[in-house]
Amino acid sequence: MTSTWKPRIVLFQCQWCLFSEADQKWVDTQRPRNVRLVKVPCTGRISPLYILNALQGGADGVLVSGCKPEMCHFKEGNLGARRQLDEFANFLEYAGLEEGRVHFAWLDVQERGRIQQELADMEARLVEMGPSERMKTRAPLKEGGLA
Ligand code: FES
Repeated sequence: MTSTWKPRIVLFQCQWCLFSEADQKWVDTQRPRNVRLVKVPCTGRISPLYILNALQGGADGVLVSGCKPEMCHFKEGNLGARRQLDEFANFLEYAGLEEGRVHFAWLDVQERGRIQQELADMEARLVEMGPSERMKTRAPLKEGGLA
């Protein structure tokens, strides 16, 4: 794998989890070009099929960022999402996807710059793993969308 290869990452972001305006602006307008953003009203609204769709569409990894447990605007949407997506990630690993390609991060109000670090960590993991071929069933992601 060449050192210039950039993994394609899909970021599912709860619209409430970044309280820092600067961090949200970075995600909205300055994130790296290899990161596709899907904003959701709460991680509880993310169907595991969205994750599968991203992987089938060419994502090398998926990061889900949600509010800390006690900070969810919909009481426990994030807890349900975490349980469901962790189970789904286990299923994907059982189906042959490497561990770490799907990651869930709780973000706290006080943690400025954490989303950048989470994305950098995920990218480093994915670069080490190389491209994901296991789940791809369709043409690669196109600019500005999943399909
Ligand atoms: Fe952010 Fe529920 S509102 S995870």
